[in-house]
Amino acid sequence: MESIRYSARRFAQVLGLTPQELSEAEARGPLAKLRSSSPQRTLYTIEDLASARAALGRCPPRRPMRRQLFLNFKGGTGKTSVSTSYAFRLAEMGHRVLVIDLDSQGHASKCLGIAGEEAERTLFEALIKKVPLEQIIVKTGMPGLDLVPSNLRMSTIDLSLMPLAAREFRLRNALKEIEAEYDYAVLDAPPSFGLLNLNALMAAHDLFVPVLADFLSFHGLKLLFETVHSLEEDLEHVLDHIFIVVNAYNATFRIAKEAREALEKHYTEFLLKQVIRQCTKFAQASSEGIPIFAYDPESKGARDIQGVLDEVRERIGDPVKLKLAPAAGPRKAVEA
Ligand SMILES: Nc1ncnc2c1ncn2[C@@H]1O[C@H](COP(=O)(O)OP(=O)(O)OP(=O)(O)O)[C@@H](O)[C@H]1O
Ligand SMILES: [Mg+2]
Repeated sequence: MESIRYSARRFAQVLGLTPQELSEAEARGPLAKLRSSSPQRTLYTIEDLASARAALGRCPPRRPMRRQLFLNFKGGTGKTSVSTSYAFRLAEMGHRVLVIDLDSQGHASKCLGIAGEEAERTLFEALIKKVPLEQIIVKTGMPGLDLVPSNLRMSTIDLSLMPLAAREFRLRNALKEIEAEYDYAVLDAPPSFGLLNLNALMAAHDLFVPVLADFLSFHGLKLLFETVHSLEEDLEHVLDHIFIVVNAYNATFRIAKEAREALEKHYTEFLLKQVIRQCTKFAQASSEGIPIFAYDPESKGARDIQGVLDEVRERIGDPVKLKLAPAAGPRKAVEA
């Protein structure tokens, strides 16, 4: 993460300035100190970004921690790629963000440049041994972006949760300790069905479901919506929002267009208008341990995730409690 560099143009853009405004702020304004520390600079670091934001007073207002879960029981739909990019972008915009890697594969940790296998502690210690989360959280190097890492030790967590009291609420309770420290908690779930994911659902305000535009995704969605419904019935937890986001979309494939139309028809209330197009930069960025916004902010993938973020922020600005009505087939939302 420390290797990330911004061009002057991108640096200005991230700060919400024009390149001219940036030069002026550096020449005479609040960023003069930044310029004097390195007069010949053409590139900026992520540390520069944090100090410039502070000097300009361009920090978004603090907000109660919003817990957002990326989950699909189906594997390989883009949960990790989308959640880590989304979280990085929120931090780049000045928010305080905690990514929680729930998957023993440790892919979210890797995508953020952290070798999860080297982590001494993971969420396992927090949920099973009640170690405070602040002792488990690691810095990613990106100011404002922290991580609860994961590794193979997490693979037995469902079994270990089984005999415990309040086993469905452990994550929600653990997050209470740190809720004043972060504006967003972004949770990247494994593609499995068990107590850990139940904990994650019980902890979430918003559920993001990345799906591929194929018909296999329908089966996974139906199962997920049934789970969410039983959560409402049995554990009285109602999510604020469910966002289905079509990922790796290729409009030149007829089957993809048809699948998207079917999603629009059956999941109208939940489907985001913004799709994330197929983009090879996701794989390239993750192999370097940096999010797509740092790898190529002009790529289709980065622009589409920005679109998702914008659409979601508009929606969560005014959250409406949703309750799922029992129905055969794909479920419809009704207001509670
Ligand atoms: N929009 C996209 N365009 C092209 N490739 C993508 C896109 N999104 C993700 N991928 C690629 O698809 C693969 C699976 O993505 P990812 O690991 O994010 O999915 P996942 O749902 O987290 O998988 P798992 O279920 O194993 O946790 C990766 O190789 C990733 O680079
Ligand atoms: Mg994943």
